[in-house]
Amino acid sequence: MNAPDRVNPLLRWPAKVNEVPKEVFDREDIYQQELKRIFYGPEWHPVAHVGEIPEPGDFKTIFIGEMPVLVVHGDDGKIRVFQNACSHRGNLLETRTCGNAHEFECPYHRWLFDSTGALRGAPNMDDFSPSFKQGDFGVPEIRSTEYVGMIFATLSDETPDIETFLGDVAAPLKAGLGGDGRIRLLGYQKVLYDCNWKIYIDNDGYHAPLLHKAFKLLNWQGGAGRQFATDRGHIGFVSELALPDVDKQTLLIDGSLIDFKGKDTSGSVIAAIKPITGVTKHLDMINIRFAFPRGLHKTEVHYGYFYHLDDDEEMIRHRVRQSSNMLGPSGLVSAEDASIFMRIQTGNQTPGNVTFQKGVFDEQDVGFEFKQNDESGNLPGWEYYRKQMGFARK
Ligand code: FES
Ligand SMILES: [Fe+2]
Repeated sequence: MNAPDRVNPLLRWPAKVNEVPKEVFDREDIYQQELKRIFYGPEWHPVAHVGEIPEPGDFKTIFIGEMPVLVVHGDDGKIRVFQNACSHRGNLLETRTCGNAHEFECPYHRWLFDSTGALRGAPNMDDFSPSFKQGDFGVPEIRSTEYVGMIFATLSDETPDIETFLGDVAAPLKAGLGGDGRIRLLGYQKVLYDCNWKIYIDNDGYHAPLLHKAFKLLNWQGGAGRQFATDRGHIGFVSELALPDVDKQTLLIDGSLIDFKGKDTSGSVIAAIKPITGVTKHLDMINIRFAFPRGLHKTEVHYGYFYHLDDDEEMIRHRVRQSSNMLGPSGLVSAEDASIFMRIQTGNQTPGNVTFQKGVFDEQDVGFEFKQNDESGNLPGWEYYRKQMGFARK
């Protein structure tokens, strides 16, 4: 492994690649550096899919790290990402999660912006400072790009182009977004987990058939699958499921919840994009999980559910029922993960390192190809994190 360019004195990392120090989940000083180096550093962050804001004037609000952002489909047809802050004294400009607006008015002193971010006017402009120019005071825009309809934003000029950033995870990302990105929003749910953001994203392939009764329903453990990681720690899963026998399962009263009506043979695709976004297609669910830290011990996750533009009415109804019952705050799969996040957080407030074992065949090298149910698929992500943070090994 290469040594980090500049050694960060905050922490020395364990010598073995399959160990992670528990204190990274519980130290405020490390969290503050993560915001700067990772969330505001040279990474792309998915902030919306076009399918959520397909019409001019459509907008949504979200966060990159702790920074509020506003994504707007402008009246000129262009989608832009802005700081969600008034260019005057920084008041939060839009408080709604989503909506349609052709103007944004800041309530504090009534400065008015259009959907391209330009300042249209402000009260008492004649009394403003001599150098004030209206054209200089649009809402600050953030660099953004689009891939298969996914809008990515970055706060750094050094972030590489999106294809380089995604690498091989581009294929499962595309498959997870309906193959061509022609998807539309069905629903959006928010949940706040009591854990550090890295505990949320460290969910692994090993736990899936063991923690989850719901994954047993999906027969995830019964199918062959491929898991791989990129050098930036993104993870792709492509799983050929042994599809559930709806009539023979005994866990659910209504087995149609786990029916698979899709035409493609691959029942499950996951693209986990560092630092913190998950795109999943389990059975007929198309789901994007936007997430961001809300402090050291809190992680907010937004579950967006989608249908495909080629779906008929029956398929759309099926996707709504399956998505809302399997994923999100009350979904069978996600509730099982939620039950463990706070336990991992609390248990990790103890000394020492955590260890990864399943699928680790070399304690000096992370590797990039794994079996579907290995936990070692998370290790390239930890190695990338270690380098981002500049932690040298012991
Ligand atoms: S802070 Fe927005 S108008 Fe003054
Ligand atoms: Fe899980």
